[in-house]
Amino acid sequence: MNLVFLGPPGAGKGTQATRLTERMKIPQLSTGDILRRAVAEGTDLGKKAKELMDAGKLVSDDIVNAIVELELMRPEAKGGFLLDGFPRTVPQAKALDEMMARRSMKIDHVISLEVPAEALVDRLAGRRSCPKCGTPYHVKSAPPRQPGICDKDNTPLVQRPDDQPDRVRQRLIEYESKTAPLNDYYKTKAVIRPIDGTKEPEAIQKQIVKALGV
Ligand code: AP5
Repeated sequence: MNLVFLGPPGAGKGTQATRLTERMKIPQLSTGDILRRAVAEGTDLGKKAKELMDAGKLVSDDIVNAIVELELMRPEAKGGFLLDGFPRTVPQAKALDEMMARRSMKIDHVISLEVPAEALVDRLAGRRSCPKCGTPYHVKSAPPRQPGICDKDNTPLVQRPDDQPDRVRQRLIEYESKTAPLNDYYKTKAVIRPIDGTKEPEAIQKQIVKALGV
């Protein structure tokens, strides 16, 4: 099954995608995680992306499309995948359709996590992330077992630079103007599954599993 997760910053895409891919045994392809790794490693890609990401702006379509094309060529993606954070613009969605058509594949479902803006700001302010594996935590709603340390690999957790309140505001503006139109784009293709993202993570996962029938 080939899946796309849509939703505003902080909607819980990473949280839900991690759980679902563990259940379905398919890879989670997160463009945000790939870009953050490139920034941490100081690669050419990372140098191009850093300033835009730190400012809460989107990286250019060409760069992100090329990343996804490479990810889809990996053997692990042949049996299905979950795209977390891509596409994020209508041109990216069209590029993805072309990538799929070249491989005689299609996107089976688009999960759209719906959360109002007020809740997003609180979620992002309290988020701490593992810089190694990308797992998100929250200081109140999803704390790690040991404060400040990733449960999975014992790496000290960090606060993402783009989770500062002024950058969050910029990310929400980017989302409304460039990403929200994708809901209409996917409605015309009848693959979108709206999910109430305001409940507890476990209840949201149940809704997703039911919507996908997995
Ligand atoms: P990316 O990493 O994709 O960030 P994002 O879309 O802004 O999403 P987030 O990772 O902030 O949130 P999320 O929805 O995954 O929520 P999470 O599960 O962590 O992108 C970062 C940047 O990279 C972009 O700004 C852009 O610059 C660049 N980029 C990436 N992809 C790109 C693309 N395709 N094109 C161009 N540029 C691109 O949860 C958030 C918090 O809430 C956590 O603390 C979590 O514990 C908590 N939480 C989760 N669920 C719940 C719940 N149900 N109740 C209470 N708290 C919850």
